[in-house]
Amino acid sequence: MMQPLLDGYAARVRTSDGLAAHRSPKPFADATPVAIDEQEATPGHPRDLAATLLTRRSSLHYADAPVRTDLVLSVLQNALRRDSGGWELDDDAGPLEAFVFALRSEGKPAGVYRVTARELSFIAPASVLGDPELLGVQREFADAGGIVSLYANIDRADSWAGSHGYRLCAVRASMALYDFHLRCQSHGLVGTMFGGFIGSAVRNLIQSDGVTRHPMLAATYAHPAP
Ligand SMILES: Cc1cc2nc3c(=O)[nH]c(=O)nc-3n(C[C@H](O)[C@H](O)[C@H](O)COP(=O)(O)O)c2cc1C
Repeated sequence: MMQPLLDGYAARVRTSDGLAAHRSPKPFADATPVAIDEQEATPGHPRDLAATLLTRRSSLHYADAPVRTDLVLSVLQNALRRDSGGWELDDDAGPLEAFVFALRSEGKPAGVYRVTARELSFIAPASVLGDPELLGVQREFADAGGIVSLYANIDRADSWAGSHGYRLCAVRASMALYDFHLRCQSHGLVGTMFGGFIGSAVRNLIQSDGVTRHPMLAATYAHPAP
């Protein structure tokens, strides 16, 4: 029963007009470039992968303390750089794009940041988010210090390799977000993966048309509950 579905994902026939190279995700006119303030890691961090895996588990219970946004941006951008360099698919299938909803932020303003392997910018202050509990189906995610949401250009991926292009976007997004999630945990933070926001709740804010900027997966991050 699953075989036709799996065969469908393997198809490399484009389903759209193949002209994605002529379309781009909408830019953010008011974006302010951001520089990361790198700081020494806290003693004992980052833990290595084995120690991280042995001590981690997903968590929906968070401390109220703000999270150092420079650390989040740095860990995330490095994950996206590994995606870009490892797959070398940015030119063909489009780069991954991430948005950080920094709800409780230390060291940088709370608000929305856009992160790619090459760029980093602040696109909106926290005041435009309204009540973060209304952005997702599960309200507990809004208790986190912040939320990272990953987007792919499935228009480009489709023009490149049809359904296989979409499948690779899903794999890349998963790997990059687990890279982020596990490294956050290696720095003593907690969080959980989840499907993402209600599309229409953030569509205008991050100019997500669902095609050139399509939501793939999200994760919370926070300090652990005491
Ligand atoms: C792709 C993906 C999407 C998920 N979406 C949700 C979700 O929307 N809501 C939720 O409560 N858990 C979701 N989860 C499950 C949790 O993130 C977590 O993986 C699960 O509770 C297992 O915990 P563990 O990571 O400690 O093994 C999702 C997991 C994955 C891999």
